[in-house]
Amino acid sequence: MTSRLLFLAGFVLACRLLPGQESELVQPKATPEDRAEGQRIFGTQCSYCHGPKGEGGQGAVLALPQLSHAPDDLSLFRVIRDGIAGTKMPASALAPNQIWQVVAFVRVLGRVEAAKLTGDPARGRQIYATKGGCARCHTMGGHGGGIGPDLSDIGTRQNAAQVRTSLLDPDASVPLDFLQVRVVTKDGHSFTGVRVNEDSFSIQIRDLSNQFHSFWKSELTEISKEPRRSLMPSFRNTLTPGELDDLIAYLESPQGGK
Ligand code: HEC
Ligand code: HEC
Repeated sequence: MTSRLLFLAGFVLACRLLPGQESELVQPKATPEDRAEGQRIFGTQCSYCHGPKGEGGQGAVLALPQLSHAPDDLSLFRVIRDGIAGTKMPASALAPNQIWQVVAFVRVLGRVEAAKLTGDPARGRQIYATKGGCARCHTMGGHGGGIGPDLSDIGTRQNAAQVRTSLLDPDASVPLDFLQVRVVTKDGHSFTGVRVNEDSFSIQIRDLSNQFHSFWKSELTEISKEPRRSLMPSFRNTLTPGELDDLIAYLESPQGGK
C-alpha cells in the first residue's frame, strides 16, 4: 500500500519537474507525413492571412529563406504558439506537435526558389539613383535620405511581388510606423510628414525634405492622420515595365545595397 502511494507521489513529482512547457520545446524530427499535415493545418488556419504558398497578404510573406521574427525553428515555434503582440498575428490553440508540423511546412515554403527575375540589376541600380529618385527618401547601403525605410535588406523582407506592389501602389500597405500626418498651425502654416513621435501635448513629424518639426498641440488648429496614405509616389506612370523589372531585380539582388 505504502509503496503504491510512494510511486504515485513520485509520479506526480516527476510530472511537476518536467512541465509540458519544456518538453514541447524539443523539436521532433519531421517526416513527410508531418509536413503534409502541417500543410493541411496551414491551409485552414494560416493561409487566409499568409496566402496558400506563404506569398503574403494580410499577413507577412513566409516564402522567404529568412524570417525576421523566426531566425530558427524554436523561435518559429514560439511565434506560432504565442503570436506577435501588437500585430494581427494571433496566438494559436494548436497542440505542440501540430505546431511542429506547421513549422516543418513553413520551412518548406522558405525553400521555394525565388521566382526568376528577368530584370537587370545593374540597370536597376542606375534607375534607383537617377530616374527613380529613390535615394531622396530611402537609405541604401548607408547612403541616401531618411524619410522612408532603409532598403539595404529589402530583399530579405519583401519578395519581388511585394516590392512591385510597393512601387505601383504604395498606399496599399503602409506600415504603421510611417503614419502620414498633416498639421496646421494657428498662424495658418501647414506641414505634412511622417509622424516620429506623439504624446498628449506635442507631436513631432519629419517632412519630405527630411526636416524635423516639433509642435505643441495647443499651437495647432488641425491634426489629420492618414493611415492609408503613403508619402511615396506611385511609379506606375513614371517608370516603364522594363525599368520596373530592372529596379526590382536590383532591390532583390543579394548585393543590393552593399
Ligand atoms: C489574422 C491574420 C493572421 C493569421 C490567421 C496568421 N497570421 Fe501569421 N502573421 C500575421 C501578420 C499580420 C504578421 C506580421 C506581424 C508583424 O507586423 O510583424 C504575421 C507574422 C507571422 C510570422 C513572422 C514572419 C516573419 O517575417 O518573421 C510567422 C512565422 C507567421 N506569421 C506564421 C503564421 C502561421 C504558421 C499561422 C497559422 C498557424 C499564422 N501565421 C496565422 C497575420 C496572421
Ligand atoms: C517621397 C519619398 C519617397 C520616394 C521618392 C520613394 N519612396 Fe519608397 N517609401 C517611402 C515611404 C515613406 C515608405 C514607407 C511606407 C509607405 O509609406 O508606403 C516607402 C516604402 C517603400 C518600400 C516598402 C519598404 C518596406 O520596408 O515596407 C519600398 C520597397 C520602396 N519604398 C521602394 C522605393 C523605390 C525603389 C523608390 C524609387 C523608385 C522609392 N521607394 C521612392 C517614401 C518614398
